[in-house]
Amino acid sequence: MSLTASELATIVKGALSAIAGAGDLSEIKKVKIEHLGDKSPLAKASQSLGSLPADQKAEFGKVVGAAKSEVNSAFEARVLELEALRDAKVLLEEKVDVTLPAPKISKGGLHPLTILTNEINDLFLGLGYRVAEGPELESEWLNFDALNIPADHPARTMQDTFFVEPLEAKLVLRTHTSPVQIRTMLENKPPIYVICPGRTYRADELDATHTPVFSQVEGLVIDRGITMADLKGTLDYFAQAMFGPEVKTRLRPSFFPFTEPSAEVDFFFNGRWVEWGGCGMVNPKVLQACGIDTEEFSGFAFGMGLERTLMVRHGITDMHDIVEADIRFTQSFGLGGR
Ligand code: DAH
Repeated sequence: MSLTASELATIVKGALSAIAGAGDLSEIKKVKIEHLGDKSPLAKASQSLGSLPADQKAEFGKVVGAAKSEVNSAFEARVLELEALRDAKVLLEEKVDVTLPAPKISKGGLHPLTILTNEINDLFLGLGYRVAEGPELESEWLNFDALNIPADHPARTMQDTFFVEPLEAKLVLRTHTSPVQIRTMLENKPPIYVICPGRTYRADELDATHTPVFSQVEGLVIDRGITMADLKGTLDYFAQAMFGPEVKTRLRPSFFPFTEPSAEVDFFFNGRWVEWGGCGMVNPKVLQACGIDTEEFSGFAFGMGLERTLMVRHGITDMHDIVEADIRFTQSFGLGGR
């Protein structure tokens, strides 16, 4: 079956008007299938060439080829136009109004314990102390032995201390920040003035007043002629900075293996005495173990819990608030950024 030139012209006309009439890229896709696809009239015209006698084949082949290329270029030109239209539309629809007020991004706050630690560091830096740190995974020797805590001391038993496997490695999660005292004395010659804040661990259940992961701050001073009066004066200064100028402190005789004499330090706040921490004059045995001449130097040390400090100062009644650190809780302490 063959095709006349005028039939071919009609096909081309139909294709061109369909191409021109396509309003967007999805319409032109359909037009392509219908007018340029395998089953389109143009394709059929091409196929019909096969059945023509040889002399007509060449001549009519040229005509069909020209028709196809006319339709193809019209198609390609229209696609370019439609793409440009789509891009313009997208630009318009996605236009950003830079004058609109931006949505507020809510900033997290520093954890109140971090804010408190920064505050304490600043306070002692102002007194000429250095901030010292040690690892939370600590050697049993530094956490206990070097502090004169004997092997049978209750603090060492399984119920308090997180021992870390393999047990032969003799590593524990430090139960207090006091090993940082030893590290400092082994690494530095006196005079020593350091403050050591950090995270500590004990096998306690989390409840309203306890948490197995807690924080302490340790102070250590070793110098010539240091006495208990220096300790008391320093604790008063510290307490007043934490709880206000009206706060009072008192020392109660106590026992710690690493201090002699030892005391508990309490402060009087909002009408009651609150236990704050432990303190004392560094035990000469500890100084000697660290190679410090006890004829020339003496020192004091203290250590207290940061959670307790924070809870009393801010009237926080549940430890869960500190541990969970919900942003609604932490934000009430301000952002703490500096
Ligand atoms: N390390 C003690 C504890 O965790 C607290 C303490 C007591 C620290 C007396 C000291 C100190 O530096 O002198 O309970």
